[in-house]
Amino acid sequence: MNTFRKKIAERVSSAAASQFGAVIDAGELIPLIEYPPDASMGDLALPCFKLSRILRRSPVQIAAALAPALGTDGGFSASALNGYLNFRIDGSALAGEVLGRVFAEGESYGSPADGAGKTVVLDYSSPNVAKPFHIGHLGTTVIGHSLKKLFEFAGYRCVGINYLGDWGTQFGKMIVAYRKWGDRETVERGQCDALVELYQRFHREAEEHPELNDEARAEFRKLEHHDPANTELWKWIVDISLREYEKTYRQLGIEFDSYLGESFYQDKMPAQVRRLRELGLLKTDDGASIVDLSDYGMPPCLILKKDGSTLYPTRDIAAAAYRYETYGFDKAVYVTSSAQSLHFAQWFKVVSLMGYPWADRLVHVPYGTVSVNGEKLATRTGNVILLKDLLGAAIDKVDRITAEKNPGMDPATRQKIAEDVGVGAVVFYYLSNNRIKDINFVLEDALSYEGNTGPYVQYTYARSCSLLAKCGDVPLPQTYVIETEEEREVVKCLAAFPERVAAAIAAYEPSYVTRFIIDLATAFNRFYHNCQILSAPDPETVRTRVAITRAVNTVLGTAFSLVCLRKTEQI
Ligand code: ARG
Repeated sequence: MNTFRKKIAERVSSAAASQFGAVIDAGELIPLIEYPPDASMGDLALPCFKLSRILRRSPVQIAAALAPALGTDGGFSASALNGYLNFRIDGSALAGEVLGRVFAEGESYGSPADGAGKTVVLDYSSPNVAKPFHIGHLGTTVIGHSLKKLFEFAGYRCVGINYLGDWGTQFGKMIVAYRKWGDRETVERGQCDALVELYQRFHREAEEHPELNDEARAEFRKLEHHDPANTELWKWIVDISLREYEKTYRQLGIEFDSYLGESFYQDKMPAQVRRLRELGLLKTDDGASIVDLSDYGMPPCLILKKDGSTLYPTRDIAAAAYRYETYGFDKAVYVTSSAQSLHFAQWFKVVSLMGYPWADRLVHVPYGTVSVNGEKLATRTGNVILLKDLLGAAIDKVDRITAEKNPGMDPATRQKIAEDVGVGAVVFYYLSNNRIKDINFVLEDALSYEGNTGPYVQYTYARSCSLLAKCGDVPLPQTYVIETEEEREVVKCLAAFPERVAAAIAAYEPSYVTRFIIDLATAFNRFYHNCQILSAPDPETVRTRVAITRAVNTVLGTAFSLVCLRKTEQI
């Protein structure tokens, strides 16, 4: 739509000169042109009250005078209504412009292309080893990955970091629990489940025998001091967990560039603590070292505990400094639940007080909580749904549905469809929500083939693939002639893709992309049902309609890749 915004602005600028003798730069008009609230009013609109001051007329007078002076050969028509100029873009002109760009740019159509030479590091997923990887982690994992895709699409160099929670007193507990109740074989076999079981048993037993907590603290301290036996055990526990996480990541199609977790920063914290001390930022409070943030309306940021051990914020500060030295980031994005918003606000403030020039490049991207079928998840009571189980259930269900629909399908194809669609359904359902809103996960809804779901949009993609496979090499038309409102709607949707992508990046909001996918899929399905494509009577119409289908296929495919959705040619 930006091309038309520009064209309209230029025409309005010259009409203002001819009608009112006023000089208004077209560049200033472009941002004033908006989408009308109701598409029946037009495709774009200019609220003329914004020009009243310069033109010294009422909005109604301005709109009435400018509308007829804009000409009829610009690919749009204008009408005046209640002080607004409403524009309707000619479908054929729009198609020529947009489809031309889609075919010329292919899979990069829609890229804001403003990231070249810049680096974004993204910290996401980052589960805590030995604690359950439950569906609360779905948010950070898929939002983080989608943001990485979006920034990559815009040309940024991206570094995806899985900042594993691989350090902390929970390892003291794990070590104690393993030595008391565990054995190698059971853990190797049971992987994360076995580890979680040991961890939960520790908590149960510690209620009756609180001295276990002291033992755990002592074991963790030994680990901190590089005790060889504890170090070996710790490495093994992390390894077992990682192996299992990787299975889930593979299903989701996610890879990381770095797995440097919290443990890596052990020896990098003292330098930060020293700097804080030298700057006079550290205060002692009941034996602990803190940074007072009362001037900024926040509770103090804890840097060192009474016993001198470091804390979550201390590690984050050291990690950010290290990442800046290593990657020289222009932006560092952290995706976590909104429960951690205060933590991030606090240490972001601390690094800014420390005078780090990169402090204002840190961005926290929070998201809301997940409940399942209306029930809140509680880790403590063991009422958790593991991410791998949720994905597994979705895959099984799709497999059953596919088997019913296509009893003759070979099992390998069916398995692939089940994975693509099952995983896609979960991811799409999750990313359809505005990220900050709490979400209630209902698997049935996510898997429905009707409504705004993953299966629905993947089905639409597959439909476009099979149509294109059927039509072979249909050449492009000489000129695009758009005859129906359905065709125009599809083209209009395609035209909006670049803006939607830019908005998604600016707001760190993958749901703008999922919403775009729904809009495009809906417009395409309406077009598919109401317009003859291959059997249209006139060959030029066939060519135009096939071209529209081809463009939809390309752009849907691009949009899918931005939200971790697999392209399904068959469903
Ligand atoms: N491991 C943490 C958790 O599961 C999330 C880490 C987020 N990233 C960070 N740099 N603090 O709660």
